Amino acid sequence: MARTTLITGGSRGIGYALAEALLRNGDQVAITGTSTDGVMRAEHALAAAIGLAPPKRGSAKVGGRIAGITCDVRDASSAERALRTAAERFGGLDALVNNAGVGVGVPIADMPHDEWNRIIGTNLTGVFNCCKAAIPLLRARGGGWIVNVSSLASKNPFIGGAAYCASKAGLNAFSEALMQELRYDNIRVTYVMPGSVATGFSGREPESGAEWKLSPADVAQAIVDVMNHPARSLPSRIEIRPAQPKR
Ligand SMILES: NC(=O)c1ccc[n+]([C@@H]2O[C@H](COP(=O)([O-])OP(=O)(O)OC[C@H]3O[C@@H](n4cnc5c(N)ncnc54)[C@H](OP(=O)(O)O)[C@@H]3O)[C@@H](O)[C@H]2O)c1
Repeated sequence: MARTTLITGGSRGIGYALAEALLRNGDQVAITGTSTDGVMRAEHALAAAIGLAPPKRGSAKVGGRIAGITCDVRDASSAERALRTAAERFGGLDALVNNAGVGVGVPIADMPHDEWNRIIGTNLTGVFNCCKAAIPLLRARGGGWIVNVSSLASKNPFIGGAAYCASKAGLNAFSEALMQELRYDNIRVTYVMPGSVATGFSGREPESGAEWKLSPADVAQAIVDVMNHPARSLPSRIEIRPAQPKR
């Protein structure tokens, strides 16, 4: 039976690369993002990359193994609807990858409250919202995976990164507690801490630093490898960094 994974923030960057890797692995994949245009573009690009039929919006079989769902993880009802839609579309849910994340480099003295709420709301509360909606679906399936995309910034705070670093440090603690809560339900929880990845994160040029940064596909490979581990083993914390960062 093909595994079904919902990836939050799968419309570009690491989430998109992971969707492509899981589809190549034979899985069924739901991707989300707040921009409907972005999600639709990604659905079509993934179908073309994998050689699947072009997606038909509203169809019960969007691209066969791909479903694009507009969702803002900060909103509990939007997250719940996205998880339910994916499970209905594919007949159940086996894995949730909490990848959606945002960040800006702004000193706290200059940070508007809205910006703080956006970062914590997406990177931390958004993960809670999605986990809460996913856990009953994973339990109904007899187990599965929750993979949280954190960051090495969680361990290496930097000036201007207080909100982002705090959100990811919180996510690490959240993940370790949740891992212990869910392990006897056969739900394995892990978190991945990438270093610099060549994406458009935080308004960067996606290609900027691509010669030394990780590629999104490198992070995707680490996540697919984890999710393919035998049932007895749980790599619960993964660090992945550029082999030769810029000096
Ligand atoms: N790039 C790096 O150097 C790096 C390093 C370490 C960790 N990370 C982490 O890796 C994850 C992915 O980052 P990335 O570099 O791939 O970023 P990205 O290219 O900016 O992609 C972010 C994705 O998240 C979605 N998203 C943002 N806010 C959302 C929300 N409220 N609800 C649902 N989806 C939302 C975006 O879609 P919409 O715009 O349509 O909402 C997009 O699909 C993040 O958690 C980030 O913190 C990145």
